[in-house]
Amino acid sequence: MLFDLRPKEQREELFGRNAELSEILRLLEAGRWVAVLGARMTGKSSIIKTAGTELSKQSFRFMYVNLLGVRSIDGFISAIADAINRSKTLLDKAKDFLSLVEGVRIGIGGLSLTVPRAKRPVRTAFEIFSALGSTKERIVVALDEVQELSSVSRPLLELLGRLFATHRNLLFLFTGSQFGLMRTLLEPGAESPLYGRPPAKIILQPFDTKTATEFLRCGFLELGMTMGETGIEEVLERLDGIPGWLTLYGSKAGVEKLPHAAALEEAVKDAEKIVVSELRNFLASRNKELYIAVLRAAAYGARWGDLKRAVEARVGVVNSARLAAALRSLKATMLLDEEEGLYRIIDPIVRKAVLTRRI
Ligand SMILES: Nc1ncnc2c1ncn2[C@@H]1O[C@H](COP(=O)(O)OP(=O)(O)O)[C@@H](O)[C@H]1O
Ligand SMILES: [Mg+2]
Repeated sequence: MLFDLRPKEQREELFGRNAELSEILRLLEAGRWVAVLGARMTGKSSIIKTAGTELSKQSFRFMYVNLLGVRSIDGFISAIADAINRSKTLLDKAKDFLSLVEGVRIGIGGLSLTVPRAKRPVRTAFEIFSALGSTKERIVVALDEVQELSSVSRPLLELLGRLFATHRNLLFLFTGSQFGLMRTLLEPGAESPLYGRPPAKIILQPFDTKTATEFLRCGFLELGMTMGETGIEEVLERLDGIPGWLTLYGSKAGVEKLPHAAALEEAVKDAEKIVVSELRNFLASRNKELYIAVLRAAAYGARWGDLKRAVEARVGVVNSARLAAALRSLKATMLLDEEEGLYRIIDPIVRKAVLTRRI
């Protein structure tokens, strides 16, 4: 069902992403590592899970690892262990190799870690992946929201670099925003273990007007409903072509059966809550006043000069390097968009939240 709120896992439910999905599958088959980039709610988790379903139909084994909230290599190892345990075939094939890894036990419940905190976590992680690689199966490991591991970038990159060099049958599929760790992954400098072999990049854009319109039409059709021209225009005006927001509206109107106007209000409200919590999270470790001023100044589009003046009117003199750095990190998290010198906020929910809500 198109208006199902969970990430999609089946090709038939993944709307308007055929080209991107085929490209991901093609690259992985060619042995490339792949990174999927996109703003929140553009369908990153959906596309990699669907890729997993398709890969499993071929000769690949697929492991999905959700890294939300995982901040250490120890946490990473636990998440990997969980993912291995969810794939019985993979566990069966790798059992003999895994049982040789120090700190790991294979029991009836599957793989478990014998010490809650591995003594040498990077080594344990490497050995677990090596055990998987030793099966000679073609394995795709999907790391969803890899930027969560930013505080342990260095050991993680070393781990990935060593795995790249030793196990050709082990492929990684990443998602995240182009920030911190993801940027290091995509643009590895000469000192990086992944230097010269960055993952191929797939970018998920919001749906264009035509695709968004079709998405709503098809979603309602599935539920035996139709949607008029004006209704669609109103929805796109408020939610743009962001797949997740459109799905939220579709679920309110099509599944919960709320009348159009109420469904739209509720979808906007829920979407704003998601955005506000993400903004708070992002701003927690930053100069909130400056970043909010930048976002507000850019909400409807501004170039450098106007933007700087507007920001300074709110927070006083800001030196150019600091402003440029703030713009860079907002751009990298995809809260802000820049095209040919024009800064703006594409997602109308983010725009509304920064202009009207207490962050
Ligand atoms: N191409 C798509 N077709 C159908 N539904 C989608 C599509 N992309 C995203 N969705 C829906 O939008 C919401 C957000 O998708 P998700 O994959 O979690 O995005 P992300 O991981 O980028 O935040 C989910 O409800 C998902 O079902
Ligand atoms: Mg996701």
